[in-house]
This record gives sequence, C-alpha cells and structure tokens, in this order.
Amino acid sequence: MQIALAPMEGLVDNILRDVLTRVGGIDWCVTEFIRVCDRLLPPASFHKLAPELRQGALTAAGVPMRVQLLGSDPLCLAENAALACELGAPVIDLNFGCPAKTVNKSRGGAVLLKEPELLHAIVHAVRRAVPAHIPVTAKMRLGFDSPAGALDCAMALADGGSAHLVVHARTKVEGYKPPAHWEWVARVQDVVKVPVFANGEIWTVDDWRRCREVSGAEDIMLGRGLVSRPDLGLQIAAARDGRDYQPLGWQDLQPLLREFWRQAQAKLSPRYAPGRLKQWLAMLTRSYPEAVLLFAELRREDDCARISRLLGCEAVAEACVA
Ligand SMILES: Cc1cc2nc3c(=O)[nH]c(=O)nc-3n(C[C@H](O)[C@H](O)[C@H](O)COP(=O)(O)O)c2cc1C
Repeated sequence: MQIALAPMEGLVDNILRDVLTRVGGIDWCVTEFIRVCDRLLPPASFHKLAPELRQGALTAAGVPMRVQLLGSDPLCLAENAALACELGAPVIDLNFGCPAKTVNKSRGGAVLLKEPELLHAIVHAVRRAVPAHIPVTAKMRLGFDSPAGALDCAMALADGGSAHLVVHARTKVEGYKPPAHWEWVARVQDVVKVPVFANGEIWTVDDWRRCREVSGAEDIMLGRGLVSRPDLGLQIAAARDGRDYQPLGWQDLQPLLREFWRQAQAKLSPRYAPGRLKQWLAMLTRSYPEAVLLFAELRREDDCARISRLLGCEAVAEACVA
C-alpha cells in the first residue's frame, strides 16, 4: 500500500511538503502543477515550484518528490518532461484533473478528458521522451461533466504508458463537492492493468476504510485531509497494520507550525508569509478546535513579528529577519 500526498497548487508548496513529510506516513509527494504552454521552460521555472530538485528530489525528511506537468501539446510536454528529468525529477506526473476555468480555457487539465485520443498522445509522447527508468504517471478526474468517458480515458492513459493512475473520483463539474464516487475507482481498476490510486474525500481513518471497501484500492492519495490532519497518513498506516496509534494532538503540532512559519519568513516576502500561515491554519481548524482560537487571533494580523510572538517563536523569527 502506498500513501501519497496530493499535489495542491497554491497550498502544498515546498514549505508545506517539507513540514508534512516530516510527520511521516507519506511515501511520496508531488509538486504543484507546472504549466507548459508552447515552449521549453527555463530551469528556473522548475526550480521555483520544485526546489527539492536541488536536493536529490527529496524533501528534508527524505520523502521523494515527483514533478507534475500540465498542458495539452504532446511534443511540448515531452520536451519539458525530458528537461525535468535532466534536472532530477524521478517521476513525471501529468495533470488531467485541474478544474480551473483559466486552465481549461487554454485546453489544459480536466477539459482534456473530453479527448481520450489526446490523452493517449500526450502520455505516449512524454513516455518516449523521458529515460526508460523514469516512470510517467497520470492523475485524472472521472470526466468533464459526466463519468461516462472515465473508462476510455483511463485506458487511453494506461495504453499510452502511464505507470499508474490516480483517480480523483469526481468530474470537473462536481469540483470539490462531496461525495467522491469511489466506486468508479474500482471500475477503472477493472479495465486497466496498472495500479490505480483512490483520491478524494478521505479525511479520517473511517473514510479510508469505506474508500478501500468501495474502491478496492490499496493505494491512496490524500489531499485536504492530510493538510488538515498532518498525521492522517500515520493513522491510516497504523489502522492498516492493526497497530495502536496515538494521534498527534495540538501541542504536538506546535513545532511543525513554528517550522512552517520559520520557512515561510525565510522563503517568502513579508507581504505573503502571513497569508500562507493563515491558509494552513484555516485548514487545521477542521481537525483541531485549538486552531480555531489561534486562527481568530491571527486572522487580521499581518505583522510578522507579532505573528511570531503569537506562535511563541520570537527567537527564530528574529534570527530569520536578521
Ligand atoms: C487548492 C487545491 C489545489 C490543487 N492543485 C492541484 C494540482 O496542482 N494538481 C493536481 O493534480 N491536483 C490538484 N488539486 C486536486 C488534489 O490533488 C486532489 O485531487 C483533490 O483535492 C481531491 O483530494 P482530497 O479530497 O483528498 O483533497 C488541487 C486541489 C486543491 C483543493
């Protein structure tokens, strides 16, 4: 069984990947999507969203990071995928699930699920362009406005050379609205030989149990659930192995929050760092009542020094600012 941390543009960046993978229970993670339009991107574009490429494509905790590309031009994607591999990407993942209007308008993400032949052409071209030992994988939704074509899309991706599929079990039109239709993961697995990961709406160990029962999938990808409950992977792994596990409490999380804040200040401008902290904290309010209180305190706060004091980490913040 593999547990992957989902790619999440604007949320799971290098900093959050670092902090979440320190907790454990995550086998691999994926960059936010790197958008490929009509040219070969400069290496800086890859390093910006995937700084881990400079450290062996591993997070500080040693968890492998994969590079996700989004685009619709098979040759251009292939060329960029080859460059990503030269820069150290150990796996190339292709995004066929992004629901954003701007992305879909320029023929990227979930809109491509209307064109299974193009899905095939993209994976095939990328597969041919990257070294044989580097897997190419794909992440898909069930369809654009209906799951009717899901199996055709999955077969196109697998035939094209995708080493596994991650299925976010909703259509583009369904956005992030529950439920996720895990039964479709089982249907997809019935028609392809490659492993299929179940993704969508796994927030708790009970959700995982139901997902496994309905989807039959051993492998899972966790998104918002893991961001809101950083030890969800550890909880699920313990449940799978029949081990007792004491979930992380709010106090246990404080060093992680402080590390996140330390890195946010070191890597982002003071204008953006507070927003990133609040974004994660807002997600943590789903699982920790104490996060609600802290969020209320921090909500209108934009001053880094005052935020550091509220988090109890003046010394670190001062060292960073210096
Ligand atoms: C803020 C946000 C950003 C996302 N960005 C990406 C992305 O860059 N690439 C991708 O394949 N999926 C992206 N997704 C989809 C997630 O990877 C995942 O499929 C989805 O959130 C469902 O899983 P969950 O219910 O466990 O969160 C994003 C989702 C969210 C909420």
